[in-house]
Amino acid sequence: MDFNIVLLPGDGIGPEVVGQAVRVLTAAAQAEGANLNFNEQLIGGCSIDKFGTALTDETLAACQAADAVLLGAVGGPKWDDPQAKVRPEQGLLGLRKGMAVFANLRPVRVHPDLISASPLKPERLAGVDMIVVRELTGGLYFGQPKGREVVDGIERAVDTLVYNEEEIRRVVRMAFKLAEQRRKKVTSVDKANVLESSRLWRKVTAEVAAEFPEIELENMLVDTAAMRLVASPANLDVLVTENMFGDILTDEASVLTGSMGMLPSASLGADGAGLFEPIHGSAPDIAGKGIANPLGTILSTALLLRYSLKLPKAAARIEQAVDQAISDGLRTVDLGGKLTSQQMTDEVIARLGS
Ligand code: NAD
Ligand code: IPM
Ligand code: MN
Repeated sequence: MDFNIVLLPGDGIGPEVVGQAVRVLTAAAQAEGANLNFNEQLIGGCSIDKFGTALTDETLAACQAADAVLLGAVGGPKWDDPQAKVRPEQGLLGLRKGMAVFANLRPVRVHPDLISASPLKPERLAGVDMIVVRELTGGLYFGQPKGREVVDGIERAVDTLVYNEEEIRRVVRMAFKLAEQRRKKVTSVDKANVLESSRLWRKVTAEVAAEFPEIELENMLVDTAAMRLVASPANLDVLVTENMFGDILTDEASVLTGSMGMLPSASLGADGAGLFEPIHGSAPDIAGKGIANPLGTILSTALLLRYSLKLPKAAARIEQAVDQAISDGLRTVDLGGKLTSQQMTDEVIARLGS
């Protein structure tokens, strides 16, 4: 079995965590008899520096032709000028759109031995195991019109939150399918008391729910969801929501797990290659020090093996090795430990099994 994987290390700690995660991915695939060919491409700030654009046609074409794509992070202070015409983040958005990966799965599990690493009360964290399904190619991030203009001497800016029913249906269906394998409950998060797009979201979600009579549907307003996420997170199982709500709620959810560096993600479309990335950014405050937590990216490679390469055993090897390393007390700096990214990765590889 041969697979072609595109690597997009990106900026800041991106190359550090991708470099480590690739070692784990290669070892786990090999243990299951699979051979991976890697092709590294530029995206984000490093692509702007070389080509003047955050995503070249070449990078996008390579990703579209691959079996899967592993991305680190993009962005950083160097490219943060609000007047800049090109931004690293545009590359990531263009890639998600270009790969048509409309569903971003962000699993949030709290390892029992990391409960003390979270600022929340321990009794709230026991048994937390949820998955957030974030719509990824629509909503506020992509809606038109978008832009800036001067009207009567006053500058204004506009972003548009627009969804059509098909965009909603396909991502909500994905959430219901996931719920069939889990606790058979979907929490759909919206702002239907204010937003028209949320009222359409609710209508379509009710239609999808009728296709899955064994799954319970709960509608929740996003402000309530932000509160529930920290007040009673163990009651949540599958959440599905609009692009920006999902972005914000998953950074909040990362606090449950002890560190932003822990959370992986899988971005999937109807078919074709998946895109796999940790949910964190380029962490300019710790970039270049070799101390970033590599586990979010390592766990993203497990999702890559499961969802794109259909190698569930290799995926499970990685997830078990990460769990074991944490149970054995191994910690990077963000979790109160001393290990470097490389040392933590060595410990995971040592636990992959033969
Ligand atoms: P960030 O996620 O980069 O960092 C937030 C905090 O979490 C920082 O203190 C950082 O040190 C810490 N952190 C993040 N990942 C970590 C890890 N693996 N190990 C240990 N600590 C970790 O968010 P930010 O600082 O707001 O954004 C920095 C840049 O990253 C911005 O340019 C932003 O646009 C970009 N960004 C990119 C992505 C992406 O590429 N998917 C995601 C989020 C932010
Ligand atoms: C993420 C990031 C991105 C997003 C940015 C960098 C465009 O925050 O992957 O969560 O908002 O989707
Ligand atoms: Mn984010």
